[in-house]
Amino acid sequence: MYYADDLIEEVRSRNDIVDIIGSYVNLKKKGNSYSACCPFHHEKTPSFHVSREKQMYHCFGCGVGGNVYTFLMEHENYSFPEAVEALAERAGVKLPEQSMTPEAKKQADVRTKIKDMNKLAAAYFHYLLKSEHGTNAMKYLKNRGLTDETINKFGLGFSDVYSDDLYKYLRKKGYKDEELKDSGLVKFDEKQGGTDRFWNRVMYPIIDTNNRVIGFGGRVMGDGKPKYINTQDTPVFDKSRNLYGLNLAKKSKRHGIIFCEGYMDVISMHQAGFDNAVASLGTALTVGQVNLVKRFTDHVYLAYDSDEAGTKAALRALEIMREFEMSARVISLKPYKDPDELIQTEGTDSFEKRIDEALSGTMFEIRILANNYDQEDPQERTQFQKEAAKHLCMITDPLERKNYTDSVAKEYDIDPENLKEAVTRYGIANAGRTDTSVFRERSERRSPEDEKEKKFLKAERLLITWLINENSLFEVLKGKITADDFFEPVYHSIATELFDQYSKDGKVTPAAIISHYQSREEHEKVSGIMQQNFEMEISQGEKSKVITDLVKRVKLRSIQHQIENAKGDLTKTGKLIQERIETNRLQINL
Ligand code: CTP
Ligand code: MN
Repeated sequence: MYYADDLIEEVRSRNDIVDIIGSYVNLKKKGNSYSACCPFHHEKTPSFHVSREKQMYHCFGCGVGGNVYTFLMEHENYSFPEAVEALAERAGVKLPEQSMTPEAKKQADVRTKIKDMNKLAAAYFHYLLKSEHGTNAMKYLKNRGLTDETINKFGLGFSDVYSDDLYKYLRKKGYKDEELKDSGLVKFDEKQGGTDRFWNRVMYPIIDTNNRVIGFGGRVMGDGKPKYINTQDTPVFDKSRNLYGLNLAKKSKRHGIIFCEGYMDVISMHQAGFDNAVASLGTALTVGQVNLVKRFTDHVYLAYDSDEAGTKAALRALEIMREFEMSARVISLKPYKDPDELIQTEGTDSFEKRIDEALSGTMFEIRILANNYDQEDPQERTQFQKEAAKHLCMITDPLERKNYTDSVAKEYDIDPENLKEAVTRYGIANAGRTDTSVFRERSERRSPEDEKEKKFLKAERLLITWLINENSLFEVLKGKITADDFFEPVYHSIATELFDQYSKDGKVTPAAIISHYQSREEHEKVSGIMQQNFEMEISQGEKSKVITDLVKRVKLRSIQHQIENAKGDLTKTGKLIQERIETNRLQINL
């Protein structure tokens, strides 16, 4: 904790959440709360809610939520201290100087500086492209069919022919060598001093989902080598956790996200109206990237190059998608090399048609498998059918397995009964197998014990929700339940704070509790707990029954634990049993 609790709370309470979020998102007033389309995932009907009363936000669609700090951490990619600083400045609250550890402060400063330098560099490259210096580069881009609108939308640019042009420019803007080195834009060597990483190239700024320029790709104009140079990893640029074009694709109204290999493919697709295209940054698809995309959609299309490398990349990507339980389809680009070439030659309609005809991941995998065997040779054909059956038997959902088996039989002209039988045979042989490289076991079985445990946890969580939503319950429940009856550590700590707040102030401030946690994950967990059932229409009678049930469930479990801990202390046990009888009879009337 860098800042004192009360200071954090003061800053928070001086920044109204509706004002802050309203400055990023178009909020509409609806009853007691404000709503909008969620800025964190793609949607058409608003499920993002902001409550002025609670000073919290929550999205029912994707589950994000929290207080003003969480919002800035999510939306601006701030660390917790950075969020506190930004809001303190806005509200005119003076923070003590050295409250960050010097090391943390230094790192935050470095990151801010790099982002500033990148932004300046992107604007400068863009300016050069449009100036006389950029005549050739502009010609190159126009030759590749790009319109001015597209060039502006992607902020494309040109790095000048001199090898220290940007270096000089940024020096003039006041940046020091040390800072320029951190940015990855300039290299230093003893003899030559500072030289630009990028020169005489067409520049593609890489922009993250918070609209920050985090790095660049630079393409040679023509056949020179290397074709592309990219920013190396820096404190703001992590190739494995970003995707080119996602800043735009996340706003797309089209179905799903299309993954492709190249910058030019993304740009070309967007220009043709497929504005849901993204590309990885010169490496194979990573788990971090899929995780990122999953915030926006569960449906992915792969439009990888049609060569062998592209096919391999698609197979690997399908494996990752499967792990994330995302549906993936593969778009065939043959005979063209990549989406750019296809669109340039055949146009938009043809690409649209290929999206419609995209193969499901499984059918694509089987097709690749089929290509390895000579279907005219009976022996090879048998081998293929065996391999296909092995693949199919790994599909865990029986209905899905049956449908795929039928489709494969039809597609490859195999007797369906024979194939089904083979699939079953391999399924039995593989039962209990834990190697899940191809089809993972999706649904882990839960024991009845787990189910019971989940029910208790849910009761604790719901009771907290109710207490937050209806402060009058604190009076009603006085003497019937206390914070110590909450068992799960996080719920226990939240309940303790809530009961404390109520006894001190006669009301609770849930948004204040969130600030006690520092990481984004914790913010999400805690705020998620606190704001389910934001608005609920329910009669007084039903409500009484619900509350009674929840209190009983939490209390009885707490008593059970205490009895186990009393370890035969008869007086204590006796008391607890009496309490249990009373709890069983409990009837709350609101
Ligand atoms: N790439 C890279 N370094 C290289 C070659 C490729 O980082 N030397 C990355 C780039 O992100 C590139 C992607 O791999 O966009 C795909 O490469 P490629 O298909 O060769 O390039 P395209 O994007 O298709 O570019 P173009 O159409 O201009 O040839
Ligand atoms: Mn390509």
